[in-house]
Amino acid sequence: MAISIPLRRLSRSFSAIASNPLRVCVVGSGPAGFYTAEKVLKKHERAEVDIIDRLPTPFGLVRSGVAPDHPETKIVTNQFSRVVQNEHCSFFGNVSLGSSISLSELRDIYDVVVLAYGAESDRVLGIPGEELKGIYSAREFVWWYNGHPDCSKLDLDLKSTDTAVVLGLGNVALDVARVLLRPTMELTSTDIASHAVAALEESCIRKVYLVGRRGPVQAACTAKELREVLGIQDLYVHIDEADLVKTPADEEELKNNRIHRRVYELLSRAASSGVASGSGRRELHFVFFRKPDRFLESEDQGGHVAGVRFEKTIVREELESGKQIAVGTGQFEDIECGLVLKSIGYKSIPVDGLPFDHQKGMVPNVGGRVLSDASGDEMQFEKGLYVCGWLKRGPTGIIATNLYCAEETVASITEDVEKGLFTRTPSSQQKPGREGLLQLLDSRDIRFFPFGAWEKIDQEETRRGLLKNKSREKLTEWLELLNIASA
Ligand SMILES: Cc1cc2nc3c(=O)[nH]c(=O)nc-3n(C[C@H](O)[C@H](O)[C@H](O)COP(=O)(O)OP(=O)(O)OC[C@H]3O[C@@H](n4cnc5c(N)ncnc54)[C@H](O)[C@@H]3O)c2cc1C
Ligand SMILES: NC(=O)c1ccc[n+]([C@@H]2O[C@H](COP(=O)([O-])OP(=O)(O)OC[C@H]3O[C@@H](n4cnc5c(N)ncnc54)[C@H](OP(=O)(O)O)[C@@H]3O)[C@@H](O)[C@H]2O)c1
Repeated sequence: MAISIPLRRLSRSFSAIASNPLRVCVVGSGPAGFYTAEKVLKKHERAEVDIIDRLPTPFGLVRSGVAPDHPETKIVTNQFSRVVQNEHCSFFGNVSLGSSISLSELRDIYDVVVLAYGAESDRVLGIPGEELKGIYSAREFVWWYNGHPDCSKLDLDLKSTDTAVVLGLGNVALDVARVLLRPTMELTSTDIASHAVAALEESCIRKVYLVGRRGPVQAACTAKELREVLGIQDLYVHIDEADLVKTPADEEELKNNRIHRRVYELLSRAASSGVASGSGRRELHFVFFRKPDRFLESEDQGGHVAGVRFEKTIVREELESGKQIAVGTGQFEDIECGLVLKSIGYKSIPVDGLPFDHQKGMVPNVGGRVLSDASGDEMQFEKGLYVCGWLKRGPTGIIATNLYCAEETVASITEDVEKGLFTRTPSSQQKPGREGLLQLLDSRDIRFFPFGAWEKIDQEETRRGLLKNKSREKLTEWLELLNIASA
């Protein structure tokens, strides 16, 4: 789509550009992107920061990851919005690194490029049957209930089965189990997507198996989130007491980890607590020491999942890492189900020209500086290229973790500025920064949306929410988002 506003007027609608500033582009407007922008602006009076995002809506996983029944967690978006109100900061929505603009183009335009575009793919198990229908990644399911425009049309069937298996025992696994099991009326006033409310209201899922390849001592979730799922009204919780038996190595692990200790205590208490009963009750089964071996295909409904075969495991210390890992025992067990959610971790996607560690799914870096070559004796860095957030550390950590992560990356940038890495010599050309970005987008007829366009979406979602007694009625379709943004 073409932009009809003359380029000169457009650039004036953004903040005033100081003479000879440090020109910074942050890719991604999740927590890592916003914390980076905030810290750059604080440290460098002369910086001009442009934040680009592939969506017309900002805030990354705070909008499309954080569960709808955690509204207090989303309050951080107020702080992020204040960052863009700084006259030296601008937001460009609907601009995608890799398709709207390449990394090398961005690096030509800006002194500093900070990649904070998160992890928008999934780890895979690589076992037979993974392509069967009825198997989704937790990311897809979460995007679906949170109204991300890329997953609003997910062909999720919650009516043909009463059993779901969730693989993994991290906080995302608990989020998705909670959304499946919580009485839907407790979600209707949240900002959950309306298509998800409709599907959950008709859902036949009554039984959720949360399956971990290791034991309760190694569960990756945290206590607050575990307490919340265990506290669902009238929920029957099953934990095999035999799984709670600890080895000396487990005792040692618990001694050194307060979070795991609290999680273990909660699981132990849940295992020995009373059983909720009644017809149509909802059930949550924690299953430990089971590693997925293959997905089983339905005999009646070809191409659809009918269960998961697990190999029983024991946990043993790995010599090199000293970590307790799951080791298969050669014994197998099946769990029948019609829906599987793989919650085994997100994964970042590389773009052309970006050094990338495919094994770890992240960008090799030291303190946020992108490493171009880690093989020789001396480390080689990509000049002016930095990373932050899940792309830098891998897909773990809460929102606040990205604040410390941004501090580290911005400290590296500051050090490089002070070393004179971006000082212009009479012969070196000044980078065009925002003007250059505007020109390039204009030449490609790429329609971008400033923060004001998001504010229109925000207002419309809030207005529609009020009519439905919801905190927000999210716009979940690309076309609708773009229409409201350009109104
Ligand atoms: C399901 C889920 C629930 C969570 N719940 C909580 C919680 O309750 N509390 C908590 O503290 N933490 C929670 N977290 C963790 C928290 O969301 C992350 O730590 C944080 O969002 C990571 O920040 P980020 O900026 O690295 O990535 P993201 O938040 O993913 O942001 C990345 C941004 O980059 C954009 N982008 C992607 N590709 C491109 C591209 N090619 N070009 C331009 N832009 C691009 C995306 O649109 C997005 O806006 C949750 C995580 C998940 C997955
Ligand atoms: N409310 C909140 O604060 C909140 C909510 C959601 C997410 N988050 C945060 O977001 C981050 C991401 O969460 P996450 O749940 O996606 O990741 P996570 O915490 O890393 O958990 C991943 C889970 O997947 C399992 N797993 C990985 N590979 C596997 C495989 N091949 N086979 C079987 N199991 C496998 C892991 O088991 P092993 O331990 O054996 O590897 C672990 O149980 C976390 O830091 C989390 O705390 C926070």
